[in-house]
Amino acid sequence: MLDLPLDRFCDFLAEQGIRRFWLVWDGEVRASHPALEPLARFLREDRRDFDRHEGIFGQLAPETGVLQAAFVHRTCRGQGAGGVRFWRYANVEDFLRDGLRLAKGMTLKNALAGLWWGGGKGVMAQGTGTSADRRRIYEEYGDFITSIQGCYVTAEDVGTSVEDMAAVFSRTRFTTCIPPALGGSGNPSVPTARGVVRGMEAALAHLGLGTLAGKTVAVQGLGHVGEPLVGFLREKGVARIVGSDIDPGRQALPGVEVRIVERGDSSILFEKADIVAPCATGGVLGPATIPRIQAPVVCGAANNQLEDPERDDVLLQERGILYLPDFLVNRMGIVNCADEQYGFVEPDPRVEAHLGNGWENSVYNLSLSVLEKARRTGRTPARVALDLAEQRSRELHPVWGHRGAEIIRSLVRNGWAA
Ligand code: NAI
Repeated sequence: MLDLPLDRFCDFLAEQGIRRFWLVWDGEVRASHPALEPLARFLREDRRDFDRHEGIFGQLAPETGVLQAAFVHRTCRGQGAGGVRFWRYANVEDFLRDGLRLAKGMTLKNALAGLWWGGGKGVMAQGTGTSADRRRIYEEYGDFITSIQGCYVTAEDVGTSVEDMAAVFSRTRFTTCIPPALGGSGNPSVPTARGVVRGMEAALAHLGLGTLAGKTVAVQGLGHVGEPLVGFLREKGVARIVGSDIDPGRQALPGVEVRIVERGDSSILFEKADIVAPCATGGVLGPATIPRIQAPVVCGAANNQLEDPERDDVLLQERGILYLPDFLVNRMGIVNCADEQYGFVEPDPRVEAHLGNGWENSVYNLSLSVLEKARRTGRTPARVALDLAEQRSRELHPVWGHRGAEIIRSLVRNGWAA
């Protein structure tokens, strides 16, 4: 079943009469339907990406037939929060692994940022169902999110736009990143880019390499985050910016040497630069790329940059490359939208605190303290950040406790997938 392409998996679900399904952890992994036992077994036996995720919920969207899912990792600090990705996956395993890793990444990121949110992620599979009516796909996703009763609160992510979030919002209150015209905070990518710049500054300061002025930065991916990122880098006086993208439409960016590359071409990471910033897709740092990286610092926005988190941070360290983990520096997107129901202040002191030097938990200060601890202990910055995030992610929400887990139990008890 894990090798099945997703359109065939959808056919399988339809043949079995399965409209909705869940896989939950309640001391062991359980599946909603006996026919999905191979998926439960996969999770039980997996040592890499499954981390006792509290619940995975999926559906075949009733009208469009798109495979839609919500992965809820840990909700001690609050509802699982993270964006919904609309992406093409090779098979069921690929789909599950991406959801599992991304949801856990959100737990870590939200906890490090000090937000009272747990970790979750939405995933929708391109190439399943019919994509004729995009708005309808997102409305159906909104209905789906309503049905899981708030254990997961969705947001924008790769493949999804703020306009799509308006369609989601038309069907559920459990979303953020909605357009400003509807009272939301809109596209989170600009604050994300600002946060990544602060991470870069911390890395340079830690290494005694001064400021960004006069440096060379190589950016992989000139999309929603990459484009404002190069603008901020220019403001900081960066001397040379080299960027790559697979989309020829990204060719013209003032002040950037843009290379249009084939999908899967990561040669930009091997540029002779002071900093390499992966801002496209995950899994780009591994044995095939790390030995060829020349820059002393890797710091970018892309989620899950390490191909294997158990191995690749060490490979980077062994090569003397300082790697700032994504979940430490790309928090500003979720910070921007997580608390939008509390209203807006312009400029927002809560947002600025994350970006400044005055708060010990700002991106800059937390990055510095993680790097210092890593130096002291000989551990990688990723491990140090991970330990801190794990510890914080188990703190209970001061008002609501572990309510996400209660919601999941009630969904299971009340026959959500029946
Ligand atoms: P995006 O989809 O707008 O931009 C990604 C860009 O990378 C696109 O222009 C795409 O054509 C390009 N690309 C894809 N593969 C490539 C390759 N092999 N080489 C060069 N370019 C390639 O996505 P966005 O929003 O800019 O996000 C970028 C990364 O940052 C993603 O991994 C996302 O999960 C992560 N992220 C984004 C946040 C946000 O606020 N948008 C927040 C936190 C993380």
